[in-house]
Parts: sequence; structure tokens; C-alpha cells
Amino acid sequence: MAENWQHIPILAKEIAGLILQDKNGCYLDGTLGLGGHTKLFLSMLGKGAKILGLDKDQKAIEFAVNKVNDTRLTAKQASYLDAPQILAELNWPLLDGALFDLGLSSYQLDDASRGFSFSKSGPLDMRFDNTKGQTAADILNTFTADKLEYIFKNYGEERSSYKVALAICQARREKPFTNTFELANLIEKNIPRFGGTHPATKIFQALRIAVNHELQTVEEAPKMLEKIIKIGGRAAFLTFHSLEDRIIKYSFRDMAQTGKWRLVNKKLINPSFEEIKNNSRARSAGLRVIERVY
Ligand SMILES: C[S@@+](CC[C@H](N)C(=O)[O-])C[C@H]1O[C@@H](n2cnc3c(N)ncnc32)[C@H](O)[C@@H]1O
Repeated sequence: MAENWQHIPILAKEIAGLILQDKNGCYLDGTLGLGGHTKLFLSMLGKGAKILGLDKDQKAIEFAVNKVNDTRLTAKQASYLDAPQILAELNWPLLDGALFDLGLSSYQLDDASRGFSFSKSGPLDMRFDNTKGQTAADILNTFTADKLEYIFKNYGEERSSYKVALAICQARREKPFTNTFELANLIEKNIPRFGGTHPATKIFQALRIAVNHELQTVEEAPKMLEKIIKIGGRAAFLTFHSLEDRIIKYSFRDMAQTGKWRLVNKKLINPSFEEIKNNSRARSAGLRVIERVY
């Protein structure tokens, strides 16, 4: 049931320690999700603090607002790339800190109706904002084999990309794809199973990234920081795979070279063994933080 959805915030105390520098400051949670990070942050902040929480997913916003239940949170359904405009409309000053906890939340993965999971029967949707844009089914049923191969190879680092792309184009002539299990079954027939990982893992990841234009959006995020972070303020990015981390790592390096920004941590911060033991989703997480120096 939706009320029982859980998402354990990752590296939450570490992030709080690194970005909450002013107890009564203004902050952005660019990926509010179920509000796990925001709830902790507010418990550590003073009465004068405020947080703007954004998420593309309207359901997430509703649950977060209920769960956090705090007037210091202003929540809106929007992309984090809209933060400069929203902050201007709200008339907020430049921020003391911002968090971008990338990718999808475990509640989205667990909700079969969203189509993110190959182990649950559901519509092939995969949109964070399910009110607009192309679904995974639209992509599978209309993209050329070359385009599908590009997505699987570049967003999923899948070795059998071409084979799967061809198999999809052949299968959809008989019947267009509508359901997650149809795709998962086709992948199982075309990719040999190695170890414990399901062969559909990378293809599903790749499709989700394509549906939500995730990498293009992540690429734009560091460029926006100058418009929203004050001097001395910090921005934290929590990434979940090497494609995302590479973008943040090189963007931060370029920003630091301008002299306007400083890397707070030079090496990626990973969750402890203890945290991974309690929350398996934390195993692929990595944190990078940058500070505006002028
Ligand atoms: C990992 S979850 C965040 C979990 C959250 N930190 C918590 O503790 O509950 C990522 C969230 O980011 C949202 N999201 C992904 N891309 C986004 C974007 N460009 N703008 C706003 N939200 C986005 C997803 O809908 C998802 O709810």
C-alpha cells in the first residue's frame, strides 16, 4: 500500500553535516522523493530555516508533504532545473545548500503501475512525471533499431544491445509492447543470465534514463548552480551509477578550475558497510559536494 512506501535516505547524516551550514538558512531538496532527507534536515535546522522541495512526481510530493508535515517545507511538482525560476517567484534569497539525490526512489520501483520494475507486471510507462512525455512503450514501439541500440549501449552499458534492439523490432511487428513482463521475457530469451543479476536490469535502466532524459538533465544541473547557490553555499549530488557520476565529476572539476567553486571532497564518498547492510540500494551510491567560493 502506498501509505507503507518506504525510502531510506542514503548518506543522510553525512549530507546534512556537509551542507547544513546555517541553522536558519534556505535550502533546496531538488529531488524530494518521499522527503526522507528533508525530514532529517528539518529536524536539525532552526525555526527560521526553510526548504524548497521539488520532484517531477506529483504522488511523491503529496506523500512527502504528509510525511514531513512541517510548514518550513514548500513543495512543488517541478524539475530541479526549474529551481531558479521557482526561487525567484517565491522571492527567496540565494541558497545555503542544495541536494540532488538522483534517479528513482524505491517507492517508484515498488509501484507496479509505474512500470519501472521488470519483476512486477505493469504498463511500460517509467515516467517520473506521468502526466507528460513519451513512455517506455512509446520508445519501444516507435524508435528504430539503431536508436534503441544507442539507448541500451549508452545508458545501460549492455553488451547485447544490438541483439535486443533487433528482437524488439521483430516482436513489435506481431504485437506492440505494453507490459513490463513482455519486455522482460524477450530480454531473458536474448541475454544469457550471469550470476544473480537479472538480464533485464541494464535494459530497464537504459529505458528509464531515456524516458526521463536523465543524463541530459544531470548535465544541466551543475550549470544552474551559479543562479541558486550563494557564496559559501554548497551543493551535493548523490549518484547511483558511473554514467551519472562521470558527468558530476567532470562538471565539478571544470567548475573548480574557474576558481569560483571548491571541491569539498576530492574523492567520491560512499556509504559505509553498515549502511549498505541495512539498505542494499545504498551499495551503488556516491556523493560529491561543491562549494561556491565567489
Ligand atoms: C532517489 S529519489 C529521492 C529520495 C529522497 N531523497 C528521499 O529521501 O525520500 C529521486 C527522486 O527524484 C525525482 N526526480 C528525478 N529526476 C528529477 C528531476 N529532474 N527533477 C525533480 N525530481 C526528479 C524522482 O521522481 C524521485 O522521486
